[in-house]
Amino acid sequence: MRLDKFLAESSIGSRKNVRIYIKEGSVKVNGQVITEPAIDINENVDVIEYFDKLVIHPGKVYYMFHKPAGCITARKDEVNKTVIDYFNEVDMNGVFHVGRLDKDTEGLLLFTNDGDFEHHLMCPQKHVEKKYFFIALGSLTEDDVNKLEKGLSIGKDEPLTKPAKINIIRNGTYKEFEKEMDIKKFYNIDSNRYNQPVVSGYLIISEGRKHQVKRMLKAVGCYVIYLKRVSIGGLTLDETLKKGQYRTLVEEEIQMLLKDL
Ligand code: URA
Repeated sequence: MRLDKFLAESSIGSRKNVRIYIKEGSVKVNGQVITEPAIDINENVDVIEYFDKLVIHPGKVYYMFHKPAGCITARKDEVNKTVIDYFNEVDMNGVFHVGRLDKDTEGLLLFTNDGDFEHHLMCPQKHVEKKYFFIALGSLTEDDVNKLEKGLSIGKDEPLTKPAKINIIRNGTYKEFEKEMDIKKFYNIDSNRYNQPVVSGYLIISEGRKHQVKRMLKAVGCYVIYLKRVSIGGLTLDETLKKGQYRTLVEEEIQMLLKDL
């Protein structure tokens, strides 16, 4: 699409005015000032800025979703409820989830029809950080923390995990956790094992391998009983969204995610 057409369709101004803005040097394509209105841009790939502000074409959509446990990250499923089933008021044709969360994982999941945005967030070379809150049976020693931070083996024939960041929030027993949190709904333990150690914390990883957090914690002897993704890059789950609710991302959030990269 022509650059001037893209800007006019994005409500920056009339076709005539946007040509002037372009010639004046107010428009950047992929970080470079472009002064030629007729230049062809790829609206699915190129990043267009007007006075350093990202221009979003109205055809593009971006949603933040608070995924509940119990639904699967897929478009369709014969048996299970899917994440798409929660978007019954919007047209989700061509809109896809950015990455996946396991059926029992809760938290931040993004949706878009912008392939470039998805690629930026998912591409392993970009190392976008994802932060997870976990509760796990077991305990973490200093040595375990070091292993998680340095990188460890989580499967035969797989490379070591990339260095991660870990922040332990609490060590306690199942009984103690149960008093404060409704962990019974995630994992119901036999009462004669109530003294079993439980640990909670945040794990930040920059990869997206299958069941990665669970497998990393398993590699140091912990069994995840609750997992929630709280952030992706600089974007944190909006806690005013109840489980199963979504909202569109605001321009600053989209800009921040793209600029982060
Ligand atoms: N790691 C996991 O183990 N599960 C998820 O859903 C996401 C990350």
